[in-house]
This record gives sequence, structure tokens and C-alpha cells, in this order.
Amino acid sequence: MTSNNSAEKNADYYERLKAAHVAALWTIPGTLAAEPTLDEVPYVWHATDVFPLLREAIDVVDLGDETDRRALNASNPKRIFGTSHNLVAGYQLVLPGETAPAHRHSPSAIRLLLEGSGHTTVDGEPVFMERGDLVLTPPYAWHDHRHEGTVPMIWLDGLDVPFVRGQHAQFAEEYENGELQALNQGEDASVARYGAGMIPAEREWTKSYSPLNKYPYKTSKASLLNFHASEGQPSTGSSMEYVNPITGGPVIPTITCFLTVVPEGQKSKAYRHTPSKVFCVLEGSGYSIINGERYDWEENDFFVVPSWHWYEHHANEGSDAILFSMSDRPIYEPFGLLREQVAPDAPVKAS
Ligand SMILES: [Fe+2]
Repeated sequence: MTSNNSAEKNADYYERLKAAHVAALWTIPGTLAAEPTLDEVPYVWHATDVFPLLREAIDVVDLGDETDRRALNASNPKRIFGTSHNLVAGYQLVLPGETAPAHRHSPSAIRLLLEGSGHTTVDGEPVFMERGDLVLTPPYAWHDHRHEGTVPMIWLDGLDVPFVRGQHAQFAEEYENGELQALNQGEDASVARYGAGMIPAEREWTKSYSPLNKYPYKTSKASLLNFHASEGQPSTGSSMEYVNPITGGPVIPTITCFLTVVPEGQKSKAYRHTPSKVFCVLEGSGYSIINGERYDWEENDFFVVPSWHWYEHHANEGSDAILFSMSDRPIYEPFGLLREQVAPDAPVKAS
């Protein structure tokens, strides 16, 4: 048989594979790649670029009539949807006097208040939000927003929608008649009940997420800075993880959150890990080196560090940088997929 005949025969073979909806493993790139193959890149969303677009949306869409949520999602430049492969972040704006009606869904959400103040109601508890507060809306928790203040309220949203969609597990429903939900607890009741490092002795919390609906920034920042001053790393900064006070685990099943301080003029250690991470700048300014490229940031910017990318943060002179971050790390841990390194020589840790 000539080589031409052989090539024709092979072409016919591959065509028949296609028709049978099978593929030859030896033709698929990356099936046993030595390292992760990514469909996401590092990127910074600058508040100076996106806040004006968000404010323009006030004239484009009415809250209540045309949409339940005036929000701009951040799509990674290499993805159609999702800031990373598991997480989506974005900014949301509510005007004074507006309300965003109650709904609930299987994806989990966190919010980080950046401007203004107002209420998110979570399963009947009105939660008052101020700058830097972390507020949880866990899976299937009813949530709505009320804004009684005088200036627009803007926060960072973070959700696990790309992950949940990927599992074919997204469900959502509106509250009765598209209204606000009925209040059944006092303001910040979960903080009063669980925020003192105590849990009720005779009442068991069996849900998969934290019983705290809010982690006030005032408390979180004080805790971080106290830890940093007493036991942290004076030159490279320190991080603390927000936890479920019942289990010590992540605040919600798919997302864990951190608060990090990098002293002014200093740089953090360098890390890389399989989970992706979205950082939001609460204080200070600086830049991060991600896989050798520089990404500048200042207050209210957020940026994504994709899986398995080396990164380190540099804080500018003038003030310490405080970075909030959320990570899809809890998704990796149960399946032995967590892999992380700290430069330069720390061994790989795999659970
Ligand atoms: Fe929602």
C-alpha cells in the first residue's frame, strides 16, 4: 500500500470516529498535561473604569421594573462568563430609596460593601452593611436589599455560579409577588448570637454554611492587625481566614475568604495554588506580580489570580495595603486537588 493510500485510509478512519462520536486519545492535546491547562488569565478591574459604567446603568435600567439587580459581572478576558472558572465577581449599585426584591438560588454569594451603607436581608435577618463588611448569602438563603441612605450603595459581589452551572445544579426562585421578604429577626441578630466566639449550648446548627451573616470590617481589620503586630510577618504581611464559628471551616461550602495586610513599601511572599482567587483592595495601593507581569491596583479595584499562577503583592509607600480575597479552595480540598506552594523552596502540599 502506498503512503497516499495509507493517509486516505487514516482520514477515512478519523471521519468514521467523528460520525461515531468518539475521539482518538492520541489526537487530543493535553489529556495528560503535566500542569493545568487554563481558560483564564490574570486581570484587574479598575474602579475608576467600572464605577462610571455602573453609574451610567442608573439611566439604562430601572431597578424593579427591568431588573432585580443592577450589577456588572466581570468576565475574564479568556472566558465568555466567569471571572475565573469557578467564581464570578462584579460590582452592584443600589440607589437611595431603591429596593431589590427577594430571591434565592443554589449558587452562593458573598458581598463586600465598598461605598454607602444599607441593608441586605438574609433569611429574615436585616443585616446592616458598611464599608468593608463581608455579608453572606449562602445557598438557598432568601435575600433582598434595601437602601435608606443618601448616597448610592456599591458593593463587590462574589458568586460560585460558574462552578454551580458546570455541575448542572443551578436553581433560582423569586419571593412571593416579587416583594421584600418578611423580617423575622432583629438587625444583625446572627452577629449578636454568634459573633462573640460563643455558640448556643443547646441548639445545634446543622447547615453547611456559617451561621454568621455578617463579618464586620471593624472587627475583622482589628483582628488582622492585632495578629500581624503580635504573631504575623512584619516584612511580608499577614493573612487571616474568615471561618464558620461552628466548624472552623469556610464561611460557605464553595468559597472561603481572607483578609490580608501588606505593610507599606513591602512585598508579600509569593504563592501559587490550584484554587483561583479574586482580590479586592480595601485600603492602600500597590501592584501584584502575577506570573512575571505587573498589575497595578488601588482602592476598590479587584483582580483575579488564576489557578497555578505565581503571585506576590507589593504595597506602595504611604499606607499599608489591606486586601480582601475570596477563593474556590473548598471545592478542591475534598477531592485531593488542593496543591499549593510558597516560594522559594517550600514543598508542594497536597491534601
Ligand atoms: Fe441573588
